[in-house]
Amino acid sequence: MKKVIALVGGTGHVGKLIAESLLGNPNVQLRLLVRPDSRQKVKALEERGAQIIEGEIGVGNEDALASLCQGAMTVISAVQGGPDIIIDGQKQLLIAARKAGVKRFIPSDFSLNLFKVTPGHIITSDWRLTFSDIADKERGNIEVVHILNGGFLDSGIMFDFLRLIDVKESVAYVWGDGKQNMDWTTYVDAAQYTAEVAIDERPVPRAFKVAGNVLNFHEIVKLYEEASGDKLKIVQLGSMADLDLRIEELLKGGQQNFLSFLPLMYYRSLLNGEAKLDLLMNDRYPSIKPTTMREYIQKYVNIEKQTNESR
Ligand SMILES: NC(=O)c1ccc[n+]([C@@H]2O[C@H](COP(=O)([O-])OP(=O)(O)OC[C@H]3O[C@@H](n4cnc5c(N)ncnc54)[C@H](OP(=O)(O)O)[C@@H]3O)[C@@H](O)[C@H]2O)c1
Repeated sequence: MKKVIALVGGTGHVGKLIAESLLGNPNVQLRLLVRPDSRQKVKALEERGAQIIEGEIGVGNEDALASLCQGAMTVISAVQGGPDIIIDGQKQLLIAARKAGVKRFIPSDFSLNLFKVTPGHIITSDWRLTFSDIADKERGNIEVVHILNGGFLDSGIMFDFLRLIDVKESVAYVWGDGKQNMDWTTYVDAAQYTAEVAIDERPVPRAFKVAGNVLNFHEIVKLYEEASGDKLKIVQLGSMADLDLRIEELLKGGQQNFLSFLPLMYYRSLLNGEAKLDLLMNDRYPSIKPTTMREYIQKYVNIEKQTNESR
């Protein structure tokens, strides 16, 4: 009997990688909830054997969610969205999973240590914390497992979103002294850990904490310089107190400026250590050898060089 693993968000960055990891396991039947307009995005996964249920999280979709969860061992959410999705939508999904007798539910966190971040410091973490409180009350016998993997070290997050390094300008930005250790994991590795948690027959801790790398700002700069041969100019943007003030100032602009303050909120919680993971659990799945920052940057730099040469 194959283990049925149900996934919502299989068309997204994280969800697609979780789906691919699960499809590599012959003992798994992967089932995806996909919005009708997004079906084309999962064509390759469908061809590899994923079963598709058309529908979405949201009122009026109860039948689709029941079909998704029917007979599933684990339901994984890798959705992205506002509080309507992260709090209300995931609650709806959890209740559908509970009604179907699912063993485990993995919400869409893939996050820094959201249980330690000061409430109000990262608004998107607040929504996830609110959901975790709801889940504790609503879960029944379901094991709810939060995947905490630190920041994604992939270029789209570390370079583009957090702007720790501006690759084009050869500048690295920091607030404070940059000496705090931070947790970093690739998308692919976080997806593999999630797939392992999903099929694990043993009880899994409520907060499953992994990190491919634990490095401070200066160590990342050094690794980048060694891998690229490019000297980075370090720009110290101010103290941690200055960063607090900067975020407060940006918050006055209202929610429409979301993207101006959200990266700074995440960077603050990494740099001040409040989001640091303790007691990493990488060893639970020794077959996963997480990508090191050096390997990732080396690969990234090589790809960038080839792309520039072919232009
Ligand atoms: N730790 C980190 O550094 C870090 C960085 C980035 C992301 N994350 C976390 O990773 C998680 C996934 O993020 P992502 O970047 O992979 O997101 P993404 O690429 O934007 O994908 C979002 C997914 O959610 C689906 N979705 C949205 N609303 C839905 C609904 N109502 N019903 C069903 N599906 C719905 C989308 O489907 P469609 O294709 O139909 O739109 C898509 O598959 C989030 O929790 C995010 O916070 C963590």
